[in-house]
Amino acid sequence: MQTLSDLLVESKIFADREVLSPHYVPKKLIGRQKEINQIEKSIAPALKGERGRNLFIYGLTGVGKTSCVRYVIDEVKGIPNTRARISYVNCRIYGSRYKVLNKIITDHLPTYAKRGYGAVDLYEKLTNWIEEDNKILVIVLDEIDMIKDLDDLIYTLSRINSDIRAGGVAMVGISNNVSFKDSLDPRSLSSLYESEIVFSNYNATELFDILKDRSAKGFRHGVIDDEVLRFIAATSVKGGGDARLSLKVLSKAGELSDDEGQQRVTMESTKEAIKLAEGDIVYDVVSTLPEHQRLVLYSVALLTQTGGSYKKLTDGVDTYLFSGEIYSRYKSITENLHKEPKGERWYRKYLYELEMQGLIAAFESGKGIRGHTKLIKLLYPADKIRDCIEKDVFGMSDQVPN
Ligand SMILES: Nc1ncnc2c1ncn2[C@@H]1O[C@H](COP(=O)(O)OP(=O)(O)O)[C@@H](O)[C@H]1O
Ligand SMILES: [Mg+2]
Repeated sequence: MQTLSDLLVESKIFADREVLSPHYVPKKLIGRQKEINQIEKSIAPALKGERGRNLFIYGLTGVGKTSCVRYVIDEVKGIPNTRARISYVNCRIYGSRYKVLNKIITDHLPTYAKRGYGAVDLYEKLTNWIEEDNKILVIVLDEIDMIKDLDDLIYTLSRINSDIRAGGVAMVGISNNVSFKDSLDPRSLSSLYESEIVFSNYNATELFDILKDRSAKGFRHGVIDDEVLRFIAATSVKGGGDARLSLKVLSKAGELSDDEGQQRVTMESTKEAIKLAEGDIVYDVVSTLPEHQRLVLYSVALLTQTGGSYKKLTDGVDTYLFSGEIYSRYKSITENLHKEPKGERWYRKYLYELEMQGLIAAFESGKGIRGHTKLIKLLYPADKIRDCIEKDVFGMSDQVPN
C-alpha cells in the first residue's frame, strides 16, 4: 500500500507530467510545417483586411488539426495593428447556432453577451461591430459536425458578408468525420468548401518523432528507450495513426512503471498501457456514436462473439461476418427496443462511418460468395465494445435484448 509520504517522494520517472497530458499544447509541432503554412496562407488575407476564402480542414482524430490551427491563432494574436479578429469555437461545447453566436459575442463584446439577448439581436450587434472599423472576423469552428443546426449557422454567417458594407467574416471548419460532407446541404457545402486541407494520418516515424520530443521534456533523462517509443508508435499506426492515443499510452506506461517503483519505463507497463488506452478510446468513440450506428456496432460485436452462421469465413485468426447477417441482427435488436430500424441504404452508410472511425474493417467479398456482399470484421475486442454499449446505451446490462 502506498502511504501519503510515498506519494510525496519525487517521481523517478517523470520530470514534468503535465507535458505528457492530453491537454498540453505543444509549442512545437512535429512534421506539420506544410499544413501550418497552408493554414497561414488561408488566414493571411484577413490580416491584410480582406475576407479571403473559407477553409475546410479534415482528417481523423489525433492527427494534429486542432493543434495546428491553435498554433496559427496564437501567431495571429501576436501581430499588432491588424483588423483581423479570431474566434475559436469548440463545437462539442457550443453545439448550436445560438451558442456559437453567443460565444463569438462573448469573445469580443463580453458585456453585451451577459444580457441574454436573442439570436437576432446578437446578429445585429455582431454585424455593427464588424462594420464599425472594417474588421475581418475569422471564425474557427472545430468539430463543426457537432452543430445541430449547422446549415442554419453557415447560412447566417455567410449572410453577414452580404449584409455589411465593410469588413467581413471568414470561416474555418474542422472535422474528424470524413463522410460529414455528405450530410450538408449543397449550399452550405459550396460556401464552406471554398478551399480545403486534408490532414493525413501519421506514420510510425512521425509518431516516433512526436513521442521522442515529448518524452525528452516529460520524462527524466534516460528512463525510456527508443525501443519502447517505437513499439508505441507501431501499435498506434495500426489503430489509425492517432497522436493523442500514442501520448496517452506513453504517459500511462510511465505511470504504471512509476507506481511499481521501477527506475525505467518497462515494456510490460507499456503493453499494459496499450490495453488500457484501447479501452478508453473505445469508450470515447462509442459514446459519441449516434444511436443507430451504435446498434449496428452492437450487432457486429454480438455476432463476433457467437460467430456468424458462415463459419467458412474464419481464416484461423480472424472472423468475418456477412453484412446481410449483421443487418438482420440490427433489425431485430432495434425492433425489440420498440424502435424503427433504418433501411439498407442508411445501414450501408453506418457501416461506412464505423469503418471511417476505425471500429470495423469492411471488404468486398468478390464474386462467388453469395453474389456481391461485404465482409465485416470488428477491429476491437467484442467484449469491450459490448461492455461499453450495454453500460452506455441500455443502462442495465441484464435488460439487453439480443
Ligand atoms: N505534429 C504534432 N507534434 C506534436 N504533438 C502533436 C502533433 N500532432 C498531434 N499532437 C498531439 O496529439 C494530440 C492530438 O492532436 P489534436 O491537434 O488534438 O488532433 P485532432 O484535432 O486532429 O484530433 C495533441 O494533444 C497534441 O499534443
Ligand atoms: Mg481536434
